[in-house]
Amino acid sequence: MVIPGATLVAAGPYLNLKLAPETRAKAVLAAILEAPLDQPYGSRPANGKTVIVEYSSPNIAKLFTIGHLRSTMIGHALAQTHQFLGFEVHRLNHLGDWGTQFGTLLAAYTRWAEADNADLEQDFDWAEPAPDKRRTPLFRLFQLYVRFHAEEENDPAMRDEARGWFKRLEAGDAEARRLWSWFRQISLKEFQRIYDRLGVTFDTLAQGEAFYEDQLAPTLQRLEDAGLLVEGDKGARIINLEDVGIATPCLVQKGDGTSIYATRDLAAALYRKDAYHFDRCLYVVGTDQVLHFQQIFAVLDKLDPWFKGRMLHTPFGMVKLPEGKMSTRKGNVIFLEDVLDEARERVAAIIEEKNPELKGKAEVAEMLGMGAVVFFDAMNDRVKPITFTWDRVIALDGDTGPYVQYAHARIMSVLRKAGGDWAAKAQAGAAQGPCLPFADLTVPTNLGGLAAPEAQALLFELAGLPVAIGAVADGCMATPLARQLVAVARAFSGFYTNCPILAPENAPEVRDARLALCVATARALRQGLFLMGIQAPEEM
Ligand code: ARG
Repeated sequence: MVIPGATLVAAGPYLNLKLAPETRAKAVLAAILEAPLDQPYGSRPANGKTVIVEYSSPNIAKLFTIGHLRSTMIGHALAQTHQFLGFEVHRLNHLGDWGTQFGTLLAAYTRWAEADNADLEQDFDWAEPAPDKRRTPLFRLFQLYVRFHAEEENDPAMRDEARGWFKRLEAGDAEARRLWSWFRQISLKEFQRIYDRLGVTFDTLAQGEAFYEDQLAPTLQRLEDAGLLVEGDKGARIINLEDVGIATPCLVQKGDGTSIYATRDLAAALYRKDAYHFDRCLYVVGTDQVLHFQQIFAVLDKLDPWFKGRMLHTPFGMVKLPEGKMSTRKGNVIFLEDVLDEARERVAAIIEEKNPELKGKAEVAEMLGMGAVVFFDAMNDRVKPITFTWDRVIALDGDTGPYVQYAHARIMSVLRKAGGDWAAKAQAGAAQGPCLPFADLTVPTNLGGLAAPEAQALLFELAGLPVAIGAVADGCMATPLARQLVAVARAFSGFYTNCPILAPENAPEVRDARLALCVATARALRQGLFLMGIQAPEEM
């Protein structure tokens, strides 16, 4: 094989391929700048495979904590990336809208209904753009939940009361249903507000746990017919998994006949098989549920060999507070919105100090604050626990989202100064799914201006992006992409310092070659951040 401009050099056991600087420049720039509109750099054509990414999946009537950010944003990046790589993607949210915790809520609400919480929506205007989190109907509901758990410690009879309510709910009791559906609506409105803020979307929010309710009996029947069900303690029904190396049996029905979390997951998997004919189903759920998914997948394998190898739990580490685990029950949690607000405020203060004239500074502060929080999450190892401290999570310097966003904004500023339509060349049209369409740009013929080692280093990091994006899908985590974006931003900084772009003494072809590299870098950064759910401001 002959690669023009390349030489092969033997070095001990290795064979090194050396690219002439202009060859590398031509190859990388053409890949980025001449990519077809519907097929941006690093993306791949449709491959006929279907992937379900199930993520976020918060429990109704609980508030979104910083812990939920992990599933939501890791899942979002996985969905975006798989689609970018040619998979057909279904984004599902297995909302926790069914289960014993509703017994608790119904018991708590009815117990204290006459008190000040009687109308959860009283004095609350849903149209308010940024309602105080501690006044929302969902917060009021959450307080009832926390109170119930606190009082239940001294009064175990309350536990039966909660169980009784869940039984009524499963039996179709009208009052229980009415309240459940109201609690669900209140929660969904608030979750939607947060998803909008995060820019995260799902195929539907209507396929939570409750959706599978009428499929629970048929699911149990199938398990029964397959000879898998055995009687456990106190009339409970279980499936033994010892033969496949799992010591704990999978409980699918409680002694009182009510369903459990696992039953609903089994029903959901069976439903998804028929509805989506998927090749892969990813569950972006915390490490605390490893055993649960081992059990579910093992049961499915026994029931229908079709499932073998298609199901994948991609666990992530829990977010802890320095003083220990967060606990919604006890009410010691960090709310996601507080973190996003604080990050935005810190950025806003810096903008006020350094660049008070900045256009659209409120939007920029939001983009950078979000960039800091989301990027921080991605830079962490997916499965290790994270200890939350304000300073770490919303740090603005070091290997952070704002560092990458800053590199992008700096390039845009160079391109604006260059005049002509240079800046427009780095601006994307409306996103097509995970793809940002950029207009076609022909690579300049003379690339001599990119021979300097700093320019070559930047081209090298840009060339690494497709591999990093592939690694996101293969390893089911955003970390490789986040790291590569930092590497590109850092290489850009070296290029910018050492290779003057708009210096008056530059020959026109040097200037054009360097501007073309700027455009390519801006596009790559913007697209990469977009896959992670982060926006890149033009100016900051
Ligand atoms: N709602 C659950 C929780 O907050 C997560 C659901 C995960 N998905 C699933 N298919 N079980 O813990």
